[in-house]
Amino acid sequence: MCKIGILGGTFSPVHNGHLKIANLAKLQYGLDKVIFLTSGNPPHKKNQQVLDAKIRHIMVKRAISGMDGFEACDWEVNRGEYSYTEDALLHFKEVYPNTELYFIIGGDSLRDFDKWHNPQGILKLCTLLVYDRSGGTVNSDFAQQIKGERIEISSSEIREDIKNGISAEDRLPNEVWEFIKRNHIYEHVPDFEEKLKTMLTHERFLHSLGVRDTAVHLAKLYGADEKKAEVAGLLHDNAKNMDNMYERCRDLEVELDEFELRNPALVHAKLGAETAKCEFGISDSEIINAIRWHTVGRPDMGLLEKIVFVADLIEPNRNFPDVKKIRQIAENSIDSAFLECVKSTVEVNKMRGADVHPNAYKIISEYFAKFS
Ligand SMILES: [Fe+2]
Ligand SMILES: [Fe+2]
Repeated sequence: MCKIGILGGTFSPVHNGHLKIANLAKLQYGLDKVIFLTSGNPPHKKNQQVLDAKIRHIMVKRAISGMDGFEACDWEVNRGEYSYTEDALLHFKEVYPNTELYFIIGGDSLRDFDKWHNPQGILKLCTLLVYDRSGGTVNSDFAQQIKGERIEISSSEIREDIKNGISAEDRLPNEVWEFIKRNHIYEHVPDFEEKLKTMLTHERFLHSLGVRDTAVHLAKLYGADEKKAEVAGLLHDNAKNMDNMYERCRDLEVELDEFELRNPALVHAKLGAETAKCEFGISDSEIINAIRWHTVGRPDMGLLEKIVFVADLIEPNRNFPDVKKIRQIAENSIDSAFLECVKSTVEVNKMRGADVHPNAYKIISEYFAKFS
């Protein structure tokens, strides 16, 4: 029967210690493969700021690329809800029906295993393999030990070191270290405004301040989270002046549609959502989506998304024929202001002979269906 090991983790970041444990488990228990299961939002870390799951998962893929018998799984990353170990094991049982599952955990996790969600259920689904990072012996009547030397590497220490400007190159797979450096992940950002100033032209920076202030005003008016509006407004154009946008999109696995591939001016929105995660440590999905959809919009936009979209067009530095009218509408209805912004963008593009993104028409017909 096929034997599959599962090494679940936050992997922020994945490091050489994880690879070593996976390898030892594979050798000692004759596993056909080890699946690295990147967590989405781990239940025991609900209140902590954790780097976005997609970015952590990219690092896992980079770490194991080209290695035989290792696989990366993004099931939890894409799930969008908290999942327990039992959920993951049931998932793997379904995907690999005639398989023995081995779930790999650390010695410290074993100590509070009885507090996990349904421990008896977990033990029915898999064999627990335990690695004690201190190199000690594991005494357990329900788990088996992966034997090996002491592993001194920890993800939290790596993050702390990078924050303090200390290299973690010796503890990370080369591809992961290069990725972290290139994308400025885990670096200390004392002040968003100061950092943003170094990334944008002066004009674009002033526009960003205008969008921030307008977004905060609209958030107050419509009961949205003002802090989120402030951050999303300030950072919405953070990728606007990057000179290697397509290269960075490939690196961060940003999926662009055909329209965006033909129109480089639009790329900064989706790219900016990813660089906001990496360079500014933003993990809040509402803020990320407000940045991602601020240029072309999408049907069924959330309140914060609409606020940033509208603020982008009506902030005090903007000057186009309809701007005064839309500013007035925005004081009374965010939905009407949003629709006016989309219609105005369509008109401007048509006048310039430029293409109009299909989302604009989808949004307009959605609004007519809803409000007429
Ligand atoms: Fe923009
Ligand atoms: Fe903008």
